[in-house]
Amino acid sequence: MKYDLKKFTLEEKVRLVAGKDTWHTDDLDGKVYKVKVSDGPVGLRTPNLGGEWGGKTIPAVAFPSTQVLAQSWTPALAYKTGELLADECIERNVDVLLAPGINVKRLPQCGRNFEYVSEDPYLSGIFGREYIKGVQDHHVGTSLKHYCANNQENSRLSQSSELDERTLREIYTYNFKIALEAKPWTVMSSYNAVNGLKVSQHKKLNDMLREDLGFDGLIMSDWGAVDNHVASVKSGLDLEMPYKKENMEALLAAVQSGEVTEEELDARCIKVLELCEKCENEKKLQKISTTVDERRKAAQRVAEEGIVLLKNNGVLPIGDGKSVSVIGEGATKNISGGGSSRVVLDRDAAKLPDELRACLPASEISHVEFYGGKISRCINNAYGKDVSVVCVDQIDSEGIDRDSIRLSSRLEEVIIETARLNPNTVVVLYCGSVIDMTAWGDKVAAIVTAGYPGERGNAAIAKILSGKVNPSGKTTETYPETLDDCLANHCLRDFCHSIYSDGLLVGYRWYDTAKYMGKENEARVRYPFGYGLSYSSFEYSGLKLADNGDNILVEFDVKNVSDIDGKECAQVYYRKPVSSVFRPYKELCGFEKKLIKSGKSEHYTITVPKEYLAYYSTATDKWEIEKGDYEILVGASCEDIRLMGKANI
Ligand code: GLC
Repeated sequence: MKYDLKKFTLEEKVRLVAGKDTWHTDDLDGKVYKVKVSDGPVGLRTPNLGGEWGGKTIPAVAFPSTQVLAQSWTPALAYKTGELLADECIERNVDVLLAPGINVKRLPQCGRNFEYVSEDPYLSGIFGREYIKGVQDHHVGTSLKHYCANNQENSRLSQSSELDERTLREIYTYNFKIALEAKPWTVMSSYNAVNGLKVSQHKKLNDMLREDLGFDGLIMSDWGAVDNHVASVKSGLDLEMPYKKENMEALLAAVQSGEVTEEELDARCIKVLELCEKCENEKKLQKISTTVDERRKAAQRVAEEGIVLLKNNGVLPIGDGKSVSVIGEGATKNISGGGSSRVVLDRDAAKLPDELRACLPASEISHVEFYGGKISRCINNAYGKDVSVVCVDQIDSEGIDRDSIRLSSRLEEVIIETARLNPNTVVVLYCGSVIDMTAWGDKVAAIVTAGYPGERGNAAIAKILSGKVNPSGKTTETYPETLDDCLANHCLRDFCHSIYSDGLLVGYRWYDTAKYMGKENEARVRYPFGYGLSYSSFEYSGLKLADNGDNILVEFDVKNVSDIDGKECAQVYYRKPVSSVFRPYKELCGFEKKLIKSGKSEHYTITVPKEYLAYYSTATDKWEIEKGDYEILVGASCEDIRLMGKANI
């Protein structure tokens, strides 16, 4: 290492392990490289030089939310998004991007679900891993976050996630285990506590991160997540962000009194100095490889791949020449979710009516906004049109969970009354997470979920609605009928504790297993995990399984039996029908999305490492791969299993 610890005073060492301000480490008056960090996962949120939290944010390219990126089921797009954000960082002298966020979507109402990948930890890990590679291959660092079991926003600073060891290993750190294969420069520890101890001072979790999950970078706190810096240093947290004067003073006193040994402090300082050196060295290798316009085009492609067509009675795609009424302002304003990942634009986001006019030049496209109570005019405008497109939105945000996953009653009424006037009503959801559609879902002709689609999202939506793009996105989170159907909402939770008595049964692991155990009426699903419609249709055939020692090779063919080229994401799940331990009914262990020309077939070969079939034994305190028969299930969604075979280990 370039820096010699012996040349630092005690006071300098204490300054090293706490941020200088909101976005920088302390450079000890020029003695070490000053690391600059910045949010966020889908676009830079960098305050201008003078400002910090209150400072005006510098505009940046607004990519689609992580939820939309994940719904593309294309890890290469996570890599691509990482590459493009690296360019944005290089232009702004940002050394470490505070991303990706990969927390498991346990509660459908969690305010930050838009910022995360999935209810499945394996899928979350894969996307996190590829995103990190994309950023770091361009010599910018990342901060994999938020480690760990940070799955709600309400009382996130005080609440303790109470969970058993197997659940912690197989679900809430499994995503990190996979993402860490990309060697992020840093990991951000979360606000919450786990089993009664704040993660920012949780030695067991920090040791697990380093010793079991193989992390060798720097652990930084989330902003303001350190209650007791002395305990944090002793637990293995390397850097408190941002600087807190009283914590600094307490730490200095603790080192002077011997409560914190010099060795403990040095171990933390070494990680900070290693990061400083890495940032300084990597910066010399940086170069910009894309223009802003290329980044915006890529943002649109991510939206085109990640927007999901949930329902379509044939009203879509809209033919050119058809009259269309677009209702609502969600079509222009919600390009990203609320909180630290919010991106500010210095130009207008694409507008759906304009984009539809570009796609359907022979069509009469009218647009009426809701604002000012002109709802009746909105709805009447739909009458007599060939198609009415109702845009509804809901701003989810960091820091607060939703009370309900229904749309506001006003929006529900608009949908219902419009559908009454025009049976060809299409609903476009600009929402950060799943929506309870019981009030209106059966009354409309089509439903598209666009998430927060970024600044070019409406161009992508228009292309999908008009058939210029064949939708290929699939859900990465189950759409339950209601919140009540989600097991996690039956677990005890108050301001201080959230009891994860749902254990391994998060997301489809619950809905599948409930169905298998005859409890499907308590676990009703409107749209399952891994589900999404296309304008094409596909047939699966020819499953072949092979064992090459460390992996199971899963091969099959998919034929596009329609007259439209389309992309199909096929998923591979495994099931252990006879097992010494309880297991969820089935679990995702592979997937691939391919373009299939109309009338043609594509051959899929998916390699499933046997380690993905392991469970964590709290009897032996290690991962175990059971011998015996496994079922391998290939599906177009988690509920739509098309092929099944047996593998024996
Ligand atoms: C926020 C978020 C974290 C973000 C950090 C800096 O509270 O939890 O994701 O990177 O603070 O804004």
